[in-house]
Amino acid sequence: MEEEIKETENVSIPLLTPYKMGNFNLSHRIVLAPMTRARYPHTPGIWTKEQTQAWKPIVKAVHEEGGIFFCQLWHAGRVSNYSFQPNGNPPISCTDKAIQVEHHIDGSGGANFSPPHRLTVEEISQVVGDFRMAAKNAVEAGFDGVEIHGANGYLVDQFMKDQVNDRTDEYGGSIENRCRFPLEIVRAVAEEIGAHRVGIRLSPYANYNDSGDSNPDALALYMAEALNKYSILYCHVIEPRMITQFDKQETKSYLLPMRKAFTGTFIVAGGYNKGDGSEVISRSGADLVAFGRLFLANPDLPRRFESNSVLNKYDRNTFYTHDPVIGYTDYPFLENKS
Ligand SMILES: Cc1cc2nc3c(=O)[nH]c(=O)nc-3n(C[C@H](O)[C@H](O)[C@H](O)COP(=O)(O)O)c2cc1C
Repeated sequence: MEEEIKETENVSIPLLTPYKMGNFNLSHRIVLAPMTRARYPHTPGIWTKEQTQAWKPIVKAVHEEGGIFFCQLWHAGRVSNYSFQPNGNPPISCTDKAIQVEHHIDGSGGANFSPPHRLTVEEISQVVGDFRMAAKNAVEAGFDGVEIHGANGYLVDQFMKDQVNDRTDEYGGSIENRCRFPLEIVRAVAEEIGAHRVGIRLSPYANYNDSGDSNPDALALYMAEALNKYSILYCHVIEPRMITQFDKQETKSYLLPMRKAFTGTFIVAGGYNKGDGSEVISRSGADLVAFGRLFLANPDLPRRFESNSVLNKYDRNTFYTHDPVIGYTDYPFLENKS
């Protein structure tokens, strides 16, 4: 009898229904959002042999638990400072304008961003090559695929957004030109490891890190359609309602046009809980839903949704500390794991 009740409950929780994403058979639709532990000086890497080797046991451990693991490839661009760069050089961007906001995206103060070096066309192609190399290393380390980080005001997003990109060459101006760099990365990475292993994360509506756009609807739609040409596995988009990384407000913009235009798997993120996550799946607004803070604080989030259990509360103060355990792997599982 108990079993029967459980099954009926599952059917009524759309987040807990199976989904086939390319070659991957997913048993539910709940995705762990990318959450880099450290910010700025301690950001992890995957460009050297040593780093690639160091990822191997981590990836293996995730696979042993049945997880599917994509590596988010991230270049901070101008969200940086001279002191974090080799030989004290300026960080790089599409522009030479520094970020004007004075706080970190997590709301803490005093980020002190340095004015960046405006990449030349030749240097842009070197950075595309860096993404290609990182993707190759990720597969070598055993990851199932990579997610190109084109969101949250980092390098790729800096090129896309007209409030940052002030170039007058083929990488600036029109939407087509501003999206050239992201799409060159998509093409290079897909060529290197296969489009079936490639996803991208976008936040056309957000302006974190001083990275806004005057026409996000057009940008979103252009990217969704352009990505179809490369047949990549998924497009992962942050909801327009997320005005900062962590605060939501109701907006008139929706992801539905983008969702309809993109032919691969569509993942949404930003402020989701069990209720509205299930709602977006049931009305076919997305195929999968990524959870950040709730998943961080609840390592068994799908199980908790399934059993309607109370959720652990996340502690914002420990989101970005450098400790390998505190606020990261020390949130408790439900006691009865069966
Ligand atoms: C500790 C922490 C680290 C994060 N790091 C990243 C990151 O590396 N890349 C990224 O795209 N988003 C990052 N995010 C944003 C999350 O992926 C997600 O978009 C955000 O938390 C909003 O979703 P939520 O409301 O489900 O938490 C981070 C969030 C947190 C809490």
